[in-house]
Amino acid sequence: MNKKVIIALDFAHGAQARQAVAGLPAAVFFKVGLQGFLEYGEEIVSALKKKEKKLFLDLKFHDIPNTVYGAVNSALKYDPDFLTIHLAGGRTMAQKALEAASRRPGLTILGVTILTSLADSDLLQVGMAPPAADRVLQLVEMGVAAGVKGFVCSPQEIAPLRRRFGNEIILVTPGIRPQWSEKDDQKRIFTPQMAVEAGSDYLVIGRPVTQAPDPAAALARIVSELSAAGK
Ligand code: C5P
Repeated sequence: MNKKVIIALDFAHGAQARQAVAGLPAAVFFKVGLQGFLEYGEEIVSALKKKEKKLFLDLKFHDIPNTVYGAVNSALKYDPDFLTIHLAGGRTMAQKALEAASRRPGLTILGVTILTSLADSDLLQVGMAPPAADRVLQLVEMGVAAGVKGFVCSPQEIAPLRRRFGNEIILVTPGIRPQWSEKDDQKRIFTPQMAVEAGSDYLVIGRPVTQAPDPAAALARIVSELSAAGK
């Protein structure tokens, strides 16, 4: 199994999420986002832990430093491998998140850069100057200075980030679509091979696998295409 693939469990009900995990025995890493965590967090986390799967808790913390410190501290009881914060919360907030996370050596805090759902016009509305790619670079600079080691970005931003930071940072990319799958609401997409080729460390893949008629076969196809491409 390719360890770069993280399966996004975006389901309304816990039973569906547990069924998805049970149907993907080859997958080793799963992402639980806000809806899943609020609806059935305890249930899915314990199901994943029982199966010795890795957990990406995508809760995107963004608050004052003291509150984020407390939130990361509380998240430790779920024993996540990855946990997200919004870099827009600033350097001190990122440092406090890292300070709380340091109590759990296996945990990597990932800094979310600019959401891929924001177009340049949306950035202006929140007081940020486009283009998004420049703001991503700026946020990652700040994150690196704060000590953040991993970042969530669009596959399109991998190349400039690798040019600037080399392999010292971990890059986690959603927006992945194999050539043979539906695009859904994702617009700026990369195939798994393109994303790894560009320098992505982890590919977050949801619907192309979880909504496929045969999820295990879809995942196996992605993994075999990656290995055929030498990734
Ligand atoms: O189903 P799909 O492959 O589009 O799922 C992608 C996952 O990555 C979803 O959980 C989505 O919320 C998340 N994500 C994203 N774009 C971002 C950040 C997170 O698609 N910029």
